[in-house]
Parts: sequence; structure tokens; C-alpha cells
Amino acid sequence: MDVPEAPPVKLRPEIVAMPAYRQGRSVEGGFKLSSNENPFPPLPGVLKATQRATEVLHRYPNGHAPELSQRLAERYGLLPEQVIIGAGSVSLLAQLVTAAASTGDEVLYSWRSFEAYPLLPVLSGASSVRVPNRADHGHDLPAMARAITDRTRVVIVCTPNNPTSTIVTESEFAAFMAMVPDDLLVILDEAYAEFVTDPEAVHGVPLLSRYPNLVVLRTFSKAYGLAGLRIGYGFGPAAVLDAARSASIPLAVTHHAQLAAMASLDHEDELLERVAHIARLRATIWAGLTEQGWSVPDPQGNFVWLSTGEHTEAAAEILLRNGIMARPFPPEGIRISIGETESVEKLLASTQDIVESLLNVPSSQPIL
Ligand SMILES: Cc1ncc(COP(=O)(O)O)c(C=O)c1O
Repeated sequence: MDVPEAPPVKLRPEIVAMPAYRQGRSVEGGFKLSSNENPFPPLPGVLKATQRATEVLHRYPNGHAPELSQRLAERYGLLPEQVIIGAGSVSLLAQLVTAAASTGDEVLYSWRSFEAYPLLPVLSGASSVRVPNRADHGHDLPAMARAITDRTRVVIVCTPNNPTSTIVTESEFAAFMAMVPDDLLVILDEAYAEFVTDPEAVHGVPLLSRYPNLVVLRTFSKAYGLAGLRIGYGFGPAAVLDAARSASIPLAVTHHAQLAAMASLDHEDELLERVAHIARLRATIWAGLTEQGWSVPDPQGNFVWLSTGEHTEAAAEILLRNGIMARPFPPEGIRISIGETESVEKLLASTQDIVESLLNVPSSQPIL
């Protein structure tokens, strides 16, 4: 094993100690189902829009994307100042955490959840408080409410939750907000909102007028298929978003990303068709897994969660051998994105292979 080199200059030790980001392994000719990406290419008009942006590459982009903010504000019945645009919603998460939490403060979230959450408090000098998911893999919101202290500055609620694909219901969220102090920032991370089909799921936008401490985050990376361009957006009180804007790295949202996002918004029908297609594949995969004996939480994002426990690494190896690149989170489980139509049969054959290979392995945690 390589011994890490000591830095030649004084750096923040908590940053130096942060684990390096690990990308999943890939296999030639396999299906990449490891990053919750959209298998479809960009929507019509996007490539043309990026061509227009290419012609003005010698210019800086327009700071806070006013045209796109205006479009989103009109679409959701808000004022432009209640909209924020960032270089991916992960950037907006970082800006909000930086704006609200510093040394000695706490950022509270459910775990396991989005891998970036633990990094954000470290960057701003705050600390993480993690509340374990319920046994059914959803957020334990009453426990999260109980974990709030006078040092808590941000609570992140992720629905659908990455990687378990579980939702928070409208009534669970209302009960939670009733327990949260009015001056505590709550971020509802809805990166996968477009894929939700459960009628009981919470939707953040209609709640903005009720909760002055709520910010809702969405992205063009997933349903809209613009992951490579890095563009996300959020809605919330203007004064909170102004602070997040102040905490941004200037001019991070490229002209390409802004024009591509606007071109995508022009193609709602195609977007909905694609999302419906992915939801249908998700239903087929969920039914197939259930038939094989897996207990998979009702998936509401563009991904499913296999609770492989201590067998996670072995199971991921079997998937890889079968040409399926998924995202293992040992020792909890594996997240598998919904990908190309052709990947479904191969995926279900691979999960059957896992069952057959690991079912009789002696263990305190049987695979099924
Ligand atoms: C829950 C959640 N939030 C936010 C993001 C960030 O998305 P982006 O920065 O691409 O908008 C992701 C990406 O995987 C995610 O899973």
C-alpha cells in the first residue's frame, strides 16, 4: 500500500484526512449503472443550444443565470429571486451549508444517503450528525427531529433518498416540520423528483409558502440528462438564497449549461415520455427482483437498492463479471441505476446469479 506523502505546506488536517473520491470500476462493453445517469442522450435542441454557446466561448457566462431563473420562476409560480442556479445541485448544497454552518455548528442528515453530504460540513468547518435510516431504509424523521440541538444549522432531507430510493411522504414531512424550529434551515433534496410515482410522496414546491425555512433543490442532471454540464437549481426564501449566492464560486455555471437547460425546458413532452419509460423499466426490475426473493424498498428514483449486507463486495463482483457496473456501499448494499432497456435482462440474470452463488454461504446475514 502507498504511504500518503506529507503535504509540503500547512493544510487543514480535516481536509487532508478526507477519503479520496472513488469512482466505480468499469468493464468493457458492460452497462454503466453506477452513477444514476440518464441512459437517453440530451433532449432535442440541446446540442444546437450548446453550439451557440461554443461560439461565444471567449466570453464569461452571465453570473446568476437570470434568463433561466426567470423561466423557472414562471414555471413554478415564484419570483426570480426565489430561484437559485448552481453548477449542479451539489454545488448549491455546498453553498447553503457554507452560508449556514461553520465551526462548532452541526449539519444533520439521514444515513445512508447521498455520498456528498458528509463532505459538505467538513468544507465549512462544521460537523455532521447522522441519524440511521429506518429498517425499511427510509428516513427516520422523528429521530432526526430529536437529534436537533441548539448547534444544528442545517437539516438535509433527501427524497427519493440516494441510494435507497425511498421517499418521504407528505404527512411524514408535515409532522417533521412541526417539530423543527422556524429558524433552522431545512433543505429538501429532490434530485430525483421527476421519477416519483408514489402519490403519497412529499413535493417541496407547494410547501415553500408555508415554511419560510425551507429550500428545495432540483437538478438537470438526472431526468433531463445533463449530468455532464453541471447545472442544478433551487427554490426558497430570497434572503436565504442571497446568502447562498454570496457563498458561490463566481461564474461557475457555464453558458453551455444555461442554454442547454433552457432548451431542455422547451421539451417537456419528450422529457415526460423518457421518465415514464424509465419508471416502467424500474417496475419490471423491481418485480423481477421481488420474484427472485429480494426484499427491495419500493424504488422511486431512477435506481434500486439491494440490501446485500456483508455480501456486498462479493455481490458487486458477480455483477461486474456479468457486465453490470453498479455502486456498492459495503457493508450495506448495492445501488443499481435504471439504464438502457437492453440492460434489464442482463441485470436480472446477474442478480439471479448472486442468489445462486451466495445463498448457501454460511453467514449471520443471509443474502435473502
Ligand atoms: C440526492 C442527490 N442530490 C444531489 C445530487 C447532485 O446532483 P448534481 O450536482 O449533478 O445536480 C445527487 C447526484 O447524484 C444526488 O444523488
